[in-house]
Amino acid sequence: MLEHYHGKKVLITGHTGFKGSWLSLWLHKLGAEVYGYSQIPHTIPSLYHTASIELLVNSKYADISDLTALSEYIYKIKPDFIFHLAAQALVSDSFIDPIRTWRVNLMGTVNLLEAMRIVDCTCSVLLITSDKCYRNKEWEWGYREEDELGGSDPYSASKACCEIAIRSYSETMLLNSNNVRIASARAGNVIGGGDWSKDRIVPDCMRNWSVNRPTVLRNPLSTRPWQHVLDPLYGYLLLASNLESNERFNGSSYNFGPSDNSDHSVKELVKMLSRSWPDSKWESANKASEVKESNLLKLACDKARKDLGWKSTLNFEETADWTSSWYRRYYEGGTAYSLVSSQINKYMHLISL
Ligand SMILES: NC(=O)c1ccc[n+]([C@@H]2O[C@H](COP(=O)([O-])OP(=O)(O)OC[C@H]3O[C@@H](n4cnc5c(N)ncnc54)[C@H](O)[C@@H]3O)[C@@H](O)[C@H]2O)c1
Repeated sequence: MLEHYHGKKVLITGHTGFKGSWLSLWLHKLGAEVYGYSQIPHTIPSLYHTASIELLVNSKYADISDLTALSEYIYKIKPDFIFHLAAQALVSDSFIDPIRTWRVNLMGTVNLLEAMRIVDCTCSVLLITSDKCYRNKEWEWGYREEDELGGSDPYSASKACCEIAIRSYSETMLLNSNNVRIASARAGNVIGGGDWSKDRIVPDCMRNWSVNRPTVLRNPLSTRPWQHVLDPLYGYLLLASNLESNERFNGSSYNFGPSDNSDHSVKELVKMLSRSWPDSKWESANKASEVKESNLLKLACDKARKDLGWKSTLNFEETADWTSSWYRRYYEGGTAYSLVSSQINKYMHLISL
């Protein structure tokens, strides 16, 4: 399935971000011609710069809210695939600037869908939303693709609305297009080397531990579906290639989460990460974070398993080890490009077994 990307034109929105950088490098390895449409990286350092992703991708730095620029770029490239990852991706920032969050996440998605309607080139478009698009009922069991949508905080709510917009375009505006196929993907909390976003537990730990500072855990008991970045990216690659080859995937949505027993608390994750950092320390915050986040969120991934043959390849321990050792080696002088590249090679070997 992955050989399918060889020689194809692939546009990634959000290619300068954490997931986008990993995906760019992976697609480049697969022999795709990779294009990107994003803003410049918002973190210092960034994986995009440290791994020299800009050398592998034809990049356009522009705003996803600019429909004219986006449509013109898509018209110029006429990509075979689009992976839409551009977003304001932090829950904490969605409280600070809800309007930007809604504009980038919802209107950015609508702009892309509208650009596809206008350009109408033959293209399979995978839109990345989030596990947070579901109405969180703090259930013990996983949410399925048909469950109710509707997050509470501005980020989650914007992602739920993206799903509604995608369905609307699929059922009406793009219904009669013979060229454009669309699907959405919902993944959980993704970790891996090279994320330096603020207010995320892994980057917080790595930044602090690399200078021998303790990390403060804001919500140590919160449970998240942690997964290594390569696991959902593999799901995205499988889904998009199926979308291209089989019409029945048009208008579909898929969850990509860790295996059922892989939901662990923040504290358990930090403990596991600390194995690569012998002197690491952490402490619980005196009071819980003021940012209201759900405590329990699981995804049911049977549909991806059945239709795509996808399941998480890395278990919780491997996910934490691959992540933590990536940063450890990076801070010891390893090059980000080689670290990402060798983990992708190792992952491709595992999925080929
Ligand atoms: N990282 C996670 O744990 C996680 C979990 C679930 C879903 N997601 C989703 O996956 C996608 C990628 O997440 P990430 O962690 O790589 O995020 P990130 O913050 O690292 O990257 C976001 C990307 O979007 C781009 N972007 C932001 N505003 C833009 C704008 N106005 N115009 C054009 N580009 C813009 C940025 O330049 C960057 O390339 C997002 O849609 C996010 O919501 C992430």
